[in-house]
Amino acid sequence: MVRLADADDPRLRDYTRLTDVRLRVVKEPAEGLFMAESTQVIRRALRAGHRMRSLLVAPRWLPDMADVLEAAAAQGAPVMVAEEPLLQSITGFHLHRGALASMHRPALRPVAEVVAGARRVVVLEDVVDHTNIGAVFRSAAAMGVEAVLVTPRCADPLYRRSVRVSMGTVFQVPWTRVETWPGGVEELRQLGFVVAALALDERAENLDVLAADPPERLAWVLGTEGDGLRPGTVRAADRVVRIPMTGGVDSLNVAAAGAVAFWATRPPVAGP
Ligand SMILES: C[S@@+](CC[C@H](N)C(=O)[O-])C[C@H]1O[C@@H](n2cnc3c(N)ncnc32)[C@H](O)[C@@H]1O
Repeated sequence: MVRLADADDPRLRDYTRLTDVRLRVVKEPAEGLFMAESTQVIRRALRAGHRMRSLLVAPRWLPDMADVLEAAAAQGAPVMVAEEPLLQSITGFHLHRGALASMHRPALRPVAEVVAGARRVVVLEDVVDHTNIGAVFRSAAAMGVEAVLVTPRCADPLYRRSVRVSMGTVFQVPWTRVETWPGGVEELRQLGFVVAALALDERAENLDVLAADPPERLAWVLGTEGDGLRPGTVRAADRVVRIPMTGGVDSLNVAAAGAVAFWATRPPVAGP
């Protein structure tokens, strides 16, 4: 355990300038790390098999995290302790529950492996808002969606904010990045999925129709916040589905739309 007195300490390289989104997005995949913020999220990441590179923590949280400190020792990850004002000057933001871990980023797995055995999956096409990505993961975990695929231009599910909004479900629901899109639609079809584009398209069928008789394996595709799904994706899909709305509302937030669709087509569960 190292007690830090100086924000320029070279051991803090993983943690500096965290608020600069552009820098983090460039740096994290390249350097193979992601951040887990708060003891709870760190615990969830550890439970899912992720490994720590190091841990940064304020002294007053130490007594509550004996298990995390034990894991750090077992994994050979240094624990750096600093008072809260120093932590804030290092990271550039107020640290929620005083702990931040730099974690090794896992290698991405092939699509076929990630969706093996799944009855419901969702593809996020070019979604750039980390909050929306986290919210989709949370609904996916809660409503029986067993894998998440993100397109090459979609933002990073392991970005700090996505992790936090997902309540750690980004560690629970298997996910990967597809290499080509909308080319990947064909791969999903070959793997036995009916690919359903969730789109505000006049020719789309009502969600109730699909929900009344959902296919055995269903891949939902959700579009970006601004323009929605690409026309090529809508053309490539097997089904195009619309959630009917009232009140003069023209669209739902992408995460809200996903939650509605996942719930309506949830796979049967055993028990009450
Ligand atoms: C905010 S909407 C995008 C709105 C965009 N202007 C459009 O025309 O698609 C983001 C995504 O949520 C989904 N979505 C939102 N409301 C929907 C609805 N009523 N029916 C089907 N999909 C919807 C779609 O996947 C859409 O691409």
